[in-house]
Formats: sequence, structure tokens, C-alpha cells
Amino acid sequence: MNKITELFKIQYPIIQGGMIWNSGYKLASAVSNAGGLGLIGAGSMYPDVLREHIQKCKKATNKPFGVNVPMLYPNIEEIIQIIIEEKVPIVFTSAGNPKTWTSLLKSHGITVVHVVSSSKFALKAQESGVDAVVAEGFEAGGHNGREETTTLTLIPMVKKNISIPLIAAGGIATGRGMYAAMALGADGVQMGSRFAASVESSSHDDFKQTIVQTQEGDTLVTLKELAPVRLIKNKFFDDLQQLYAQCPTVDQLKELLGRARAKRGMFEGDLIEGELEIGQIAGLIDDILPVEVIIKNVLEEFEQVQKEMQTLRL
Ligand SMILES: Cc1cc2nc3c(=O)[nH]c(=O)nc-3n(C[C@H](O)[C@H](O)[C@H](O)COP(=O)(O)O)c2cc1C
Repeated sequence: MNKITELFKIQYPIIQGGMIWNSGYKLASAVSNAGGLGLIGAGSMYPDVLREHIQKCKKATNKPFGVNVPMLYPNIEEIIQIIIEEKVPIVFTSAGNPKTWTSLLKSHGITVVHVVSSSKFALKAQESGVDAVVAEGFEAGGHNGREETTTLTLIPMVKKNISIPLIAAGGIATGRGMYAAMALGADGVQMGSRFAASVESSSHDDFKQTIVQTQEGDTLVTLKELAPVRLIKNKFFDDLQQLYAQCPTVDQLKELLGRARAKRGMFEGDLIEGELEIGQIAGLIDDILPVEVIIKNVLEEFEQVQKEMQTLRL
């Protein structure tokens, strides 16, 4: 038992990060059934779709699961209402001010966690009354912090600043990575990219194959003027680079981005024109595996590294 397993009433301190177009009820329930904490990613769901996923998740697992709510997406009020009505036990908020919803959610007995990318915001989250913080480094898939702080730097800094449980995210896909994050002071880990390349992820098979093919250096953060996001370099990414060469206005960037790029890339499998979000650690992901196997591999490697470290003499 540790702070994270106690907080969420789960077996292992492994959380599957909420991921637009990847983490529906199938992925979330598989992770929870395997002893971790699965999160439904509300960011790509209309309110009625989210309700359906919550109800299906309840049927697919009797273990705790949660919903990730990126606060920059529309329909937030409705989404929060559904979460409360459906009695979801755990909510991870991201991309916004943790003060906005924490007290309401907590007044309904919901455990609240907020995702941050700096120790300043970790402290703000703690002051807002959240139960734990996810500190996400710059190598992570999806939207990133503007400060570009890497996980190796961020975790000990956040650890120094807060007293509530700390979950590390960004660049973790193996037991070795998990061990390193916990050595830096994390109480648990949140993995995104590794679970995006799982059998149960709802993304398109061609996107999953692309994750497997992605090598070191194949992702970069772009669109910093809108919301920084780490993408695989494809034609859409190159088009953005060409536009950047002309010193575009924010409106020109918005126009090129258009609508539904992420859906097109990750859900519909348009590898050319779509937005393909993944973390740097994709370079280490070589296979699409069932969730149960992913978690088993991580735990086995964690224990192996733990033994290695015990024999270490300096
Ligand atoms: C495809 C994809 C979509 C993501 N979407 C979200 C999201 O909707 N909300 C969120 O808080 N984080 C999102 N993330 C971040 C993950 O929840 C997680 O923190 C991150 O992937 C951890 O870093 P890793 O990719 O190196 O494991 C996304 C990540 C990926 C790869």
C-alpha cells in the first residue's frame, strides 16, 4: 500500500492518463480491472457520449475508475453535472484553473486530482483543495506546459513544494521509468502513450501502428501560441512549420488547425492531414499490447530494477 493506492483504493499506483480519442470505457475499465486506475477521457466526448461511456464502464468493472476533464473544452458545466449524477468516484482535471470545480466536486464526495506542469501550479492546486497532483513533464504526449520542464526536473521540484500525494507523468512507459519516477519522489505514475498503443485504446489501428513506428526524435511540440501540443511529424506538422516560417498571426494558425484535426488523425486514422498526439517515449514502444500485459510487464520490470538497485554499491 502507498499514498496513491490508498487514495484511489486500487492495487498498483499506475494510472492511465485521460486521452482524447483513445481512452473510452474499454481502455479505462481494462486498466481498472488490471489493478491500476483507468480514466475516461471526456475531452473528446459530447456530454451524452460521456454519460454512455460512464455507464458502460460501471458495467465493465466493479473497481474504481475516473473521468479526465480538460477544462479548455466546451460543455464543461454539463460534463461536471453528468459526473456528479453518475456518481463517478474520481475526477482528474487538466488545462485550467483547479479552483473552478474542486470544491463542488469534493462536496459530492468525489476525489479530485489536478494535472500541472510546474511547481507553482502544483502549489495552487494543493491550495485549491485537490487530493493529489499529477506533475507532467515536457516529454509527455498531448498538451504540454509552456515552461518546457522535463519530468526528471519537475518531479523533485514539485515534491519539494507540496505535501499531498504526487503522481509523475511524461516519458514513463516501463517499470524502469516507473522506478525512476518514484525514486525522484513520486507516489505513483500516470502513463499515456503506452496505453494509447494498447488493444483496448479506442484510437484507429493505423494510429496505433504509427506509435509503434515512431522513433526517438520523431515528435516535437508546436502550436505554442494556441495550446502547446506534442505531435508526430507528418504532413500536417510540416504545413505548420511552413506557416511558422512566414511569422503567422494566431488567427492564421487557428485557421490552419481548423476543427477536428485530432479526431481526424487519431480516431479516423488520417496519418497525413490529422493531428497525431504522442509522447517522446513512443520511441521505446514497440508493440500494441493488451492492457493486462502492459501492466504485468511494468510491474515485473519494476521489481527487477528494485533488485538491481539493492545490489548497487557506490
Ligand atoms: C493521444 C493523447 C491524448 C491526450 N489527451 C489528454 C487529455 O484529453 N487530457 C489530459 O489531461 N491529458 C491528455 N494527454 C496526456 C496524458 O493524460 C498523460 O498525462 C501523458 O500522455 C503522459 O505522458 P506520456 O505520453 O509520456 O506517457 C494525452 C496524451 C496523449 C498521448
